[in-house]
Amino acid sequence: MMQPKEVAHLVLPTWAGEFDLRVFEGASGEVYLVFAYGDIGDGQDLLVRLHSACLTGDAFGSLRCDCGPQLRQAMRRIVAEGRGVLLYAAGHEGRGVGLVAKLQAYMLQDEGHDTVEANRRLGLPVDGRDYREAVQVLQAAGVRSSRLLTNNPAKASALHQGGVPVERLVSLSTAPHLRNLGYVQTKERRLGHRAPGGEPLDGDGLATGKAVDASNLLGRVGARNGRPYVVLKYAQTLDGRIATGTGDSKWISGPEERRVSHALRAASDAVLIGAGTVLADDPLLTVRMVPGASPIRVVLDSALRVPPDAQVFGPDAVTVVLTSDRSDPDRREALRRRGVKVEVVGEAPDGVDLADGLARLRSLGIRSVLVEGGSRVITSALRERLADRVVVAVAPILLGAGTDAVGDLGAGLVTDGLRLLDRTVHQLGPDLVVAGDLDWDRS
Ligand SMILES: NC(=O)c1ccc[n+]([C@@H]2O[C@H](COP(=O)([O-])OP(=O)(O)OC[C@H]3O[C@@H](n4cnc5c(N)ncnc54)[C@H](OP(=O)(O)O)[C@@H]3O)[C@@H](O)[C@H]2O)c1
Repeated sequence: MMQPKEVAHLVLPTWAGEFDLRVFEGASGEVYLVFAYGDIGDGQDLLVRLHSACLTGDAFGSLRCDCGPQLRQAMRRIVAEGRGVLLYAAGHEGRGVGLVAKLQAYMLQDEGHDTVEANRRLGLPVDGRDYREAVQVLQAAGVRSSRLLTNNPAKASALHQGGVPVERLVSLSTAPHLRNLGYVQTKERRLGHRAPGGEPLDGDGLATGKAVDASNLLGRVGARNGRPYVVLKYAQTLDGRIATGTGDSKWISGPEERRVSHALRAASDAVLIGAGTVLADDPLLTVRMVPGASPIRVVLDSALRVPPDAQVFGPDAVTVVLTSDRSDPDRREALRRRGVKVEVVGEAPDGVDLADGLARLRSLGIRSVLVEGGSRVITSALRERLADRVVVAVAPILLGAGTDAVGDLGAGLVTDGLRLLDRTVHQLGPDLVVAGDLDWDRS
């Protein structure tokens, strides 16, 4: 087989750090980008990522796959190690079938076929990648043995067979999104990938730095009449408080539970809070404690009283503000100039009209919402029957007087209370997490 030819060599500064970039062209005409970090030295025992190009995931943050978070995680890991190589195989788009065929396969997946079946129906290989040139490129770049950042044992075999020993696989799992859950599960079930969606909720992985698959906590996510599927998520003390009398709530639950919270964010299209929580906590609302995509952030702020420098408006994720006619049009414009999407919806006694706001979110393509607001938003959603499920962390703390998790729902008798169906209970560190569907039919 003809040796790939080096066609460019330069320094590429990236968001993760400065890489030495060598570009190779194989005899097949395919292009390979070798990003080397640190001193490669004798090329032994290098942290290596062999990444198949995915334009939609890598560049546009598509939630159909886990490629983007994997690529960024690989770069972070290599930089953290201080030494390593990322080989970006530009011709391996769509497991080697190419961009157009991949997008056509997505169309079939939308009709209900999984990624394997969709490729077969198009007469395409399930995996058309040929790793031989990639291995030659790694050798040309000085890689002699590796620890391979992958969940895919087939990649390790290809490297081994090509003469680059793989000492071990280093997992590159990401917290799955509801939109890529089926794909990630198919990769595990049908393509032999190892736990691409991370550790199960009740596994040992919670104590480690690995991704967590918390998607089960979200229940049977499905279409709702003109609004997204809504899950209420909060952390309360044993005596039912989500904050002290002074408004402090950091942190009621422990780090194990908070990592699961971040995995829930990573699984959802959007995370929603009220102006009260922004003013009290100034949260970022991004995914930081597990590898995964940050959701769209939604703030309910009928009069636009949240200051424009709040962290939730920062550039790390997209933010939508649902406001009412009462807000100052100049403030709306100022937020839009900062790249914040401002939507004017109807007004209600509690602030903005939640039903109208949720319908607006659905019209923007948002299908699942994780509500992480304070008691006012939680209470509105319950009172108006606009929630499908609750996920409540209960921490072994007694606070006495403070902010109640849920305000008045008009229950005169215990039997008037909202009951949860299909409950599950999990112990996460010192906390218990109770999840269940709201039983509106019987309430
Ligand atoms: N432990 C936890 O899990 C947790 C989670 C979140 C917050 N907290 C704590 O909760 C406290 C904040 O509670 P909060 O009740 O003020 O926060 P919130 O529910 O997040 O925000 C309430 C505010 O949102 C606005 N809003 C707009 N439309 C609304 C609607 N339809 N329904 C309800 N609110 C609407 C209202 O302000 P406008 O009328 O100005 O629009 C309202 O005052 C803080 O101490 C925070 O630390 C704890």
